[in-house]
Amino acid sequence: MAALLGRRLQRIAMITAMVCMAAPAAVAHQSQATGGMAVTVHPLATQAAVATIESGGNAVDAAIAAALMLGVVDPHNSGIGGGCFILIRLPDGEFVAIDGRETAPAKATRDMYLRNGEPDSRLSQTGPLAVAAPGALAAYELAVRRHGRLPLRQALLRAAAQARAGFVVDRVFAGRLRAAAPLLRRFPESRRVLLRRDGSPYAVGDHVEFPELARTYEAVAEHGVDWFYRGPFARRVSEWMAQHGGRLSVEDFANYRAIERQPVRTRYREYEVVGFPPPSSGGVHVAQILNMLECFDLRELHRRDPAVMTHLVIEAMKRAFADRAFWLGDPEFTGVPRGLVQRDYARELAATIRLDRATPVAGHGTPPRARSDLFSRHTTHLAVADRDGTWVAITQTINTTYGSKVVVPGTGVVLNNEMDDFAIALGVPNAFGLVGADANAVAAGKRPLSSMSPTIVLKDGKPVLTVGAAGGPKIITQVVLTIIRHLDLQWPLEQAVSRPRYHHQWKPDHVFVERGLDETLAKRLEQFGHAVVPTRSSGVTQAIRYRQDDQGQPRWIGVADPRAAGMARGWPARVPVRAAPSPLPATTRK
Ligand code: GLY
Repeated sequence: MAALLGRRLQRIAMITAMVCMAAPAAVAHQSQATGGMAVTVHPLATQAAVATIESGGNAVDAAIAAALMLGVVDPHNSGIGGGCFILIRLPDGEFVAIDGRETAPAKATRDMYLRNGEPDSRLSQTGPLAVAAPGALAAYELAVRRHGRLPLRQALLRAAAQARAGFVVDRVFAGRLRAAAPLLRRFPESRRVLLRRDGSPYAVGDHVEFPELARTYEAVAEHGVDWFYRGPFARRVSEWMAQHGGRLSVEDFANYRAIERQPVRTRYREYEVVGFPPPSSGGVHVAQILNMLECFDLRELHRRDPAVMTHLVIEAMKRAFADRAFWLGDPEFTGVPRGLVQRDYARELAATIRLDRATPVAGHGTPPRARSDLFSRHTTHLAVADRDGTWVAITQTINTTYGSKVVVPGTGVVLNNEMDDFAIALGVPNAFGLVGADANAVAAGKRPLSSMSPTIVLKDGKPVLTVGAAGGPKIITQVVLTIIRHLDLQWPLEQAVSRPRYHHQWKPDHVFVERGLDETLAKRLEQFGHAVVPTRSSGVTQAIRYRQDDQGQPRWIGVADPRAAGMARGWPARVPVRAAPSPLPATTRK
C-alpha cells in the first residue's frame, strides 16, 4: 500500500501537469459584446456556438453545438463517450440542472479493481474496466428538446462536417496527444484513429480528420439518440467489451437516463450562487467554501496582507475537501447532507480556522441533520449567454486525457474512464489524489462523484457571472477563486482567471501553488505551516460577466483561460478589449 501511495503522489503531479493542461500563457482571450457571448477552450467550438446563434438558435442550442464540436476538436477532454453537467438559466429565471454523468455498469462490483486483494488503479484508469455508460449525448438531447429552438441534428451535422473536413493541430492538442500516446498505442483502434500511421503523435500544424466519428455523429443525426443508446453503437461497444474483459453491456446503454435535478442555491454576500448538485461535489463545496469565507472581510484582509487572506482561503478549502471525502457520492445511493451548505455549519468550521497558522484537519465534520436532511435525489468548461436571458454553463469530460484510451472499432468515439472517479477502495487516491469512503464506493448503476462545478451567480435575481473549469478537484477551487477575486477583490475578470492560483484538497495535506505565484507569498504560506508544492498549471477556467455600461447598454465580457488556447466571442459585433498584462510567465500562444 505504501508503494502504491508513493506511486500515486508521483502520478498526481503528472496528472496535474497533463490533465490540467498546457503551461499558462501570458494573456487570456477575452471579448466584449452587446448581444451575448460564447466562450470555450477551442476557437472552432466558440465559432460553432456563434454560428448557431446566427442561424436562429438560443444559448442552449449554441452551447450544445459547441459541446459537440469540442468532442471533435478537443477529444482528449470530452466527447459523446463521456458525460457532462449542464446548468441552464431560462429567460423566466427558472434553473435547470441536467445530469449527464456516466453510470457504472450493472455488472460493476465493489471489488472489481482488486487483484490479489490489492487495489489496482491502472484498471480503473485505462482499458475496458475503466469505462462507465456515457451520458453526454442523452443530456444534450434533453437540453435541446426541452429548452432549445433548433433540432439537435443541426449541431451534430455541423460537428460531423468538421470531423470529416479535419482541422489543424494546435499546441494544446499536440501536447495532450504526445502525453497520452504511449497508452493509446496499446489499443489498435485508438492508435489507428488518433495517431499517425507510424504510431507517433500528430504535431502542431498537422492536419487531422476523424471520419469514423463523423459517421457516428451523422448516424445519430439521422436516426436519433436511440441509435447510440439502443442501437448499433451500444451493440458494437458491448460486443467489444465482452471480448476484452469489460463489463459495459447493451442494457447499460439502454437503461441510461439523463436526470434533471434541483441546483444548489446559496447566498454569498449580495449575490446568489447557483451550482450543480450531487453527484457533483462542485455545487456543494463551492457554496461551503464561500459560506466559510463570508465570515471574513476578504477585501480588507487582502488589503492588509494578501498572505493572510490566501492562507484563510486555503484553510477553508481544506475543511471542505475533508467533508467531500466522507459525505459525497451519488445521491441515489448515499445520503448527502444538505447541512453541508448551511451557513451555521460554515460558521462552525470557520471558527476553527486560525489566521496565524495552518491547523491540521483530522477528518470530516458533521453538518446539521446529517442523516435526515439529504440532497434528493480531464474535462472542459464552456458557457454561452444570450440577449433573452438564457445562460448555459456546461462542464463535460471523459475524465483524464483521452479517458480509458479505448476507441471501439468503427465508432471513432473515445470512451471515458469515469470509473476512476469512484473510490476504488477505501482511502486509495484516484488519479487526482482524491480519497473517498463508502459514499463513493463502486456500485452497479451508480454515478461516480464529480468535481465539475458549472456555476451561475445572480445579483437581484439576474445573472451577472458564470464560471466553471476543468482540472479535477481544482475545478472547485478555481471557481471559488474566480468568484472571490472578481466579486470581493474586484479584479478584472481577465485577471481573476489568469493570475496564478492555489489549491488545497485536504489530502494530500499540501497547498498546490501554480508557477508564477509571488514567491514571497509562497514563503509566507510556508511560515503559516503549509506544505507548499509547486504545480505547472492549476486547470482551465472559462467565465462570462454581464453588466450594463455607462450608457445603460448591456455588455457581456467573455474570458477564456490563457492556460488553454480557447476563445471568447460575442455577437452581434465584437467590442475589442485591450488585454491586460498578466503576471503569468509568457509562453507562446496562438
Ligand atoms: N472527471 C473529473 C470530475 O468529474 O471531477
